[in-house]
Parts: sequence; structure tokens; C-alpha cells
Amino acid sequence: MADPSAAAVAHHGPDVTKRDFLKLVTGASAAIGTAAAAWTFIDYMNPSRDVLALSSVEVELTPIVAGQGITVLWQGKPIFVRHRTDKEIKEAEDVKLSELIEPQADSARVKPGHDQWIVLIGICTHLGCVPLGNRPTDPRGEWGGWFCPCHGSQYDTSGRVRHGPAPLNLFLPPYAFESDTKIKIG
Ligand code: FES
Repeated sequence: MADPSAAAVAHHGPDVTKRDFLKLVTGASAAIGTAAAAWTFIDYMNPSRDVLALSSVEVELTPIVAGQGITVLWQGKPIFVRHRTDKEIKEAEDVKLSELIEPQADSARVKPGHDQWIVLIGICTHLGCVPLGNRPTDPRGEWGGWFCPCHGSQYDTSGRVRHGPAPLNLFLPPYAFESDTKIKIG
């Protein structure tokens, strides 16, 4: 059943970064992701202008164990960073492109040599809700990725839309690996 609060958020478009997902915000040079902080939930937050303006955010990946995802804030947008399991990677790679609403190979959505990491802009391509799937208790939908409670769209472990009404895959932010355990978004 759709979360009424989430549905309400939908009317505010992409400015839905204030609730319903885990947010970890850092200064431009600060690493994110100590084990304790990785699961700190902030129910409401009003990012200051300097935070919104950050051109890049570094994320330390080591604390994110396989199967876990976190959300960080980059330029006011929620960014999903998930450490995929071997099973999730295989499922994402094995899907027939002809089955996809927006056909795109998993290999085109991850960085070479780092296919255990998927990094996405966490804004539903339907009306801009923030899909669920990063909290430990969140529903992840039939394809194990993310579930948008606003109107029921579902995304797989590659962030590709598998069930509408969302018309497109989750977008990919610009990012790069600075090392095997750290990415820089932006
Ligand atoms: S905003 Fe409608 S399904 Fe996500």
C-alpha cells in the first residue's frame, strides 16, 4: 500500500530529500560511512545552502557491506550507493534486455571492475518520489532493487525500471572511483 506521506511528498517533485530515506551528508572533503553513521537515520532535514551547493561528495565504501545501501546527499539530490551481492550482480547481468522498459545493459550502468557498486540518483523517474530500498526494513520490490511507494514503480538491482508507471531507469550521477574503497560524486 502506498505510503500517504510519501505520496504527499510526490507533489513536491525532486525536493523530497527531507524524509523517507537515509541521508548522510558530508562536507566536500569529508568521507562518509563509519559503521555507526552508516545507519543513522534522519527523519527531517533542511540542507543549508552550502550543503546544497557542494559540487562533489566523497563516499567511503568500506563500511557498506554486501547487500547494504546508503543514501548520501549531493547537490540536494539523494544518491543511492549500494554494495551488490554476487547474486544481485548476476541477476542484473542475466536479464534479457528485451524484457526491460528502458533497455540498458548492467555493464553500462556500473564502472568497469567495480560491478559490485551501483550508484544512482534516487529520484523516481515518474513524479520524483524517493524510492525505498536502502533502509534494512525497506521493501525492495519484486526485482530486489528499489520500490517507489507513490505509485508502485519498481527498479532492479541495476536501478532499471521493471514495473511502471515510471518510464525510465534511475539516472546515474557523475562519479568516479578515487580508490577501490572511495568514490567521488560530482
Ligand atoms: S513517483 Fe510515481 S511511481 Fe515513483
